[in-house]
Amino acid sequence: NNLKINIAIDGPAGAGKSTIARLVAKELSYIYVDTGSMYRAVTWYMLKYGIKPESSDEVLRHARNMVLELMPGADGQKVLVNGQDVSPLIRSREVNGMVSQYAQNEGLREHLVALQREMAARKGVVMDGRDIGTTVLPDAELKIFMTATVKERALRRFKEMGDAQGLTLEQLEKDISERDRLDEGREISPLRCAEDAIVLDTTNMDIPQVVETIVSFCRTHTNS
Ligand code: CDP
Ligand code: CDP
Repeated sequence: NNLKINIAIDGPAGAGKSTIARLVAKELSYIYVDTGSMYRAVTWYMLKYGIKPESSDEVLRHARNMVLELMPGADGQKVLVNGQDVSPLIRSREVNGMVSQYAQNEGLREHLVALQREMAARKGVVMDGRDIGTTVLPDAELKIFMTATVKERALRRFKEMGDAQGLTLEQLEKDISERDRLDEGREISPLRCAEDAIVLDTTNMDIPQVVETIVSFCRTHTNS
């Protein structure tokens, strides 16, 4: 059965979106698109060249001129800016702390959304982010809104990083809550559950359980 659908996965930071989206894509032989990495790569670039989020026209001009590429990598997806692999650089605390401010730029969002829609045009895509089910792919056949308590999400991130960034669990929880607040509160495509999305609270679910759940929703949909 070659019928392919698009799967949209949205939710707050640390809910497991990218981990799960990548594994679901692998299982189904779909293409995985991490839209957060696009906002992160743009943020990394703007910080590097000292372009402030308030200078929205400047931000947009630079974003339009940069070549942003997503590629499958060994452990997840690689993101390239003007040919440079910036994947290891976009998860820093500096980028974490600023990305939600750049992500409020309306022109920047339109630009990235257009790129994202192009990537999903031929179906067979698992895309994760904040506004995929509501704005980027409102016609996606399967929409998941993935959540977990903020405590659990902070704990997951903590385990993942060790103390590589010298952050305590409490600091991480604060950082995550602040990013959630900005993402939920912004005017343009805020983080919101689409009306037709399935809410999946993963607080007490391990990774294989979540993957299996979504894959089985997908198989029901495509009858395969
Ligand atoms: O992995 P994590 O959940 O921490 O974040 P991410 O998915 O890499 O996204 C980083 C930031 O980019 C989010 O906090 C949002 O501010 C922004 N973002 C967005 O506005 N819209 C998207 N579709 C994806 C990310
Ligand atoms: O992309 P998002 O920010 O939503 O989350 P993630 O980066 O995919 O997941 C954050 C961490 O939680 C990773 O270390 C995952 O391995 C872990 N995780 C988990 O422990 N249990 C789950 N059900 C999902 C993710």
